[in-house]
Amino acid sequence: MKSKLASALQYTKHFATTGAISETSREVEIEICNRLDANGKIFVEFGMGLGNITQEILERMPKDAKLYSFEVKKEFCEKVREKITDERLIIINDGAENIKKHIKEEVDNMVSSMPFTFFSKEKTDQILNASKEVLKNGGHFSQILYSKIHYKKFSAAWDACEMIKTSNFPAGYIYHCSKL
Ligand SMILES: C[S@@+](CC[C@H](N)C(=O)[O-])C[C@H]1O[C@@H](n2cnc3c(N)ncnc32)[C@H](O)[C@@H]1O
Repeated sequence: MKSKLASALQYTKHFATTGAISETSREVEIEICNRLDANGKIFVEFGMGLGNITQEILERMPKDAKLYSFEVKKEFCEKVREKITDERLIIINDGAENIKKHIKEEVDNMVSSMPFTFFSKEKTDQILNASKEVLKNGGHFSQILYSKIHYKKFSAAWDACEMIKTSNFPAGYIYHCSKL
């Protein structure tokens, strides 16, 4: 409870970048990871924040896999480095838009909780295009958003998309997108 309150304060303090006033719910952590490939080797997370979804991804990943987690806030990167000591986790203190600078391998799965609502069309297009380039055929890109408004854009960018509504309040929408 104390740590939930501490993380809520952190997200609220940096609202312009996080677009959030608290970390995502347990239900979202589970649903957003439901398409992860249990035999995958390379996983990518955008918007690591304080690492709650990161932990869920690590729990589901094979022992010899790697997780690249992108986060623009240096302070959050430092906190997660202290909190999660797992050698499969590679924290990248940079924006998701620069993914191709950091990752040269083909990616099995991508999970994102970034606030696309705050991004320009150019930045959104750049991230979605680069993600599609690095993702393997048959791979999934799963995104949590608190609005259905972006679904059309995501559906146009990916080969297939499905939207799952969560039961918590405010309702979240998880877009499970795939590259065929
Ligand atoms: C809504 S918070 C989600 C945090 C956490 N993963 C969760 O689910 O509770 C979004 C996170 O995305 C980060 N972020 C914003 N723009 C980003 C970008 N261009 N690249 C990577 N991370 C970004 C924010 O700093 C913030 O930590």
